[in-house]
Amino acid sequence: MKDISVTLTQTPKAKPTDESKLGFGQIFTDHMFLMDYYDGQGWVDPRIVPYSSFVLDPACMVFHYGQAIFEGTKCYRRADGGLQLFRPADNLARMTRSALRMGIPALDEETALAGLKQLVLLEQDWVPHQEGTSLYIRPTIIAMDAHLGVHAAHHYLFFIILSPVGSYYKNGLAPVGIYVEDEYVRAVRGGTGFAKCAGNYAASILAGELAEKKGYSQVLWLDGVEQKYVEEVGSMNMMFAYGDRIVTPALNGSILPGLTRDSILKLARQLGYQVSEERMAIADVFEDARAGRMTEAFGTGTAAVVSPVGELCWKDEKLVIGGGKIGPVAQKLYDTLTGIQYGRLPDENNWVVKLT
Ligand code: COI
Repeated sequence: MKDISVTLTQTPKAKPTDESKLGFGQIFTDHMFLMDYYDGQGWVDPRIVPYSSFVLDPACMVFHYGQAIFEGTKCYRRADGGLQLFRPADNLARMTRSALRMGIPALDEETALAGLKQLVLLEQDWVPHQEGTSLYIRPTIIAMDAHLGVHAAHHYLFFIILSPVGSYYKNGLAPVGIYVEDEYVRAVRGGTGFAKCAGNYAASILAGELAEKKGYSQVLWLDGVEQKYVEEVGSMNMMFAYGDRIVTPALNGSILPGLTRDSILKLARQLGYQVSEERMAIADVFEDARAGRMTEAFGTGTAAVVSPVGELCWKDEKLVIGGGKIGPVAQKLYDTLTGIQYGRLPDENNWVVKLT
């Protein structure tokens, strides 16, 4: 592991005083972690420096050809005041998988994890205290060369920034309405759907804006070929409860392999739910919900945690699910996952990394 240099800020910012108003990703801490990659040298110069703007050449390749990937993970404050991370090494391992798909070299995960921990420890007073809040950790890699030829860059920047956050959706655990997108698609198999690359999110923005105008929080993406099968909701993977059976779209290359998805599926099995990963036709989902067989729908993600979906709209049919309220399965999984993340429940899967 390489040595990490530290330069402290001379102008620390005031920390938020009202944690109920944090929202998501609006405030950033005093420092960030940086590390460069150069062809022939590998990942070099890991450093913690004061948070500041970057100065980038207008020809910087990330602006033109979009080699940009990111991750999202969180630091949680336990009731005893101590701090813990949740599966951070798994996030960085996924970052390497995203990197390789985008022609970016594999991350030095060991140094990145050491930098992440050291940065969070340095910024520990920024980890909020209120129920449901956390310090969101955003590792990112961008292509840095100032060059207009379309090929892999020779210089990349890895950085981590930190943001104290509340819930991702404005109304916390209140069920959200989701619009089933039947015009645009997010990803196709063989494309970049499984990678956490900025382009996947860029591809989702227009549909998201249009859905918001119709009163929905997000869009549910269908497969990119037939627009028949359920994929994911951009910021979360989707799950459906049929009583005590939980069904989620199988990973097929165009869906993000969410770590919260993976954690929830393992916890659900351990809690005694029947779990299956399947190709799910949207027409069947609607039919099952109309007939009362499908009792709950919810999304899972680091930012979204477990978010109940109270309404789905597809081709102008509005379907209220579970009476528009959070159901027992989503509530149990939310309580179990957050119980482990905040240290209220035992961590039988060894997912938690205690920092203090
Ligand atoms: C996360 O859940 O960490 C994500 O990266 C989703 C993001 C769009 C907020």
